[in-house]
Amino acid sequence: MEVIILPGPEEVGRLGADRVAAVVARNPRAVLGLATGSSPTGIYAELARRVAAGTLDLSGVSGFALDEYVGIPADHPESYSAVIDREVVGPLGLDPARVRVPDGRAADLAAAAEEYDAAIAAAGGVDLQLLGIGTNGHIGFNEPTSSFASRTRIKTLAPRTRTDNARFFASPAEVPTHCLTQGLGTILEARELLLVAQGEGKADAVAAAVEGPLSSMCPASALQLHRRASVVVDEAAASRL
Ligand code: GLP
Repeated sequence: MEVIILPGPEEVGRLGADRVAAVVARNPRAVLGLATGSSPTGIYAELARRVAAGTLDLSGVSGFALDEYVGIPADHPESYSAVIDREVVGPLGLDPARVRVPDGRAADLAAAAEEYDAAIAAAGGVDLQLLGIGTNGHIGFNEPTSSFASRTRIKTLAPRTRTDNARFFASPAEVPTHCLTQGLGTILEARELLLVAQGEGKADAVAAAVEGPLSSMCPASALQLHRRASVVVDEAAASRL
């Protein structure tokens, strides 16, 4: 695992954007794994600047989001489908027809999850998977005790995750209780992984992922199993390494 420590969030965003740009330079029809949450927003902002400046073209790229809340109204601004549209597809000039988010409103969630994994495989697999990390070590919504072999599936959100994400909702009670998330096994099949984290609040999770034992109690420690995994953090998030 490659660990890169940078002074602050801006440098993390720039390096993340460089990695995305490098993958797309090799293959303009690359498949990107898209993360939501605050961690990758610096990468998306930097990519959007390059697209606006005409130095980067992402219109041929495909994208698969990591996860989605179950049962959240389609028009809710915090559904990951809405977040991906607003923060990624629009600003980065992606083709909406090439970007998918798990269907958290499907009548048959298990079937939707299975179909999502099949769609990733049919697209040729993910070239570069962007990841944030939860304070409890989750990636996507793979909460502690997730199997390293897991596929896209329904998960119950951990109480800590619901508390962490309450800031995006009008009240804690409004945070959904379940999600669809790519599994750890699904994520590990991406050809390259890039996990980004900023701020001291992530320092314990980053230390457990990078230096702790391989453990389902820290799902992000699964990155230790991957041949091309990079962890790019600012100094605050690296403070317990
Ligand atoms: C969220 C998402 C994850 C994200 C993580 C950290 O709930 N499901 O994909 O990486 O939790 O979020 P943030 O980047 O906002 O700290």
